[in-house]
Amino acid sequence: MNGERHTYVIELILEMRKHGWLWTEEYCWHKKNCYPGKWPNRFRDAWERCLHFTKRRRFNMYQEAVMVPMGDWAEARLKNLSETDRRRDESRVNSGFGKNVSNWLGRDKVYPTNVLHMATECSNRAHSAVFPVGLPEWFIKLFTVEGDLVLDPFMGSGTTGVAAKGLCRDYVGIEVMPEYVVEAQERIVATEPGCPSRFGKEFAGGLYETILTSSAHDI
Ligand SMILES: C[S@@+](CC[C@H](N)C(=O)[O-])C[C@H]1O[C@@H](n2cnc3c(N)ncnc32)[C@H](O)[C@@H]1O
Repeated sequence: MNGERHTYVIELILEMRKHGWLWTEEYCWHKKNCYPGKWPNRFRDAWERCLHFTKRRRFNMYQEAVMVPMGDWAEARLKNLSETDRRRDESRVNSGFGKNVSNWLGRDKVYPTNVLHMATECSNRAHSAVFPVGLPEWFIKLFTVEGDLVLDPFMGSGTTGVAAKGLCRDYVGIEVMPEYVVEAQERIVATEPGCPSRFGKEFAGGLYETILTSSAHDI
């Protein structure tokens, strides 16, 4: 905007903090298939921020649910461990974080980083800002368990509802545009629930002016 980046994300973070939210973490969604292009003073946008706010310092986080394969680096890195690698090496900047590299010997999975590598959604043309189902799926697995309730106040074409139903979580979606509510409802109805006890059953709840709901407890 006017030759420079907009600051609305930074302003949003500061405003949320003023309202009592804790800015807990920031994730980078690396869009693996961003459009080609050239601008005189900047490169292509290949990532987007995912901001994580919480009301409390302690919250549920199920990191085991999103572990990833160890990767090629492990064989070479873990082959010849130094003395430091074999004990807890505390952060030099007193952050309280430390690491013991030898803990990873013999494992085949590690906790992920806060960079998510996912292609954008190209097949759904019914909404201009659809994100890939894998994105809400990752966060839903990380922060909820089966039967928990997921709220998306900007439901769009219903991707969060699709992810929640597929992972057997209940959901509430809010969307201001009636045509997107219809699109979201159609996509969610066509999604099979992830838990066997709910296969073949329609999710209860339904279409409201701006709110889509579904609850396992209504079935
Ligand atoms: C970025 S899109 C979300 C797209 C969605 N993630 C998907 O995959 O389809 C944001 C949506 O929020 C809706 N929206 C904007 N302001 C809203 C409001 N005040 N209340 C409810 N929905 C709103 C827009 O109509 C739009 O569909």
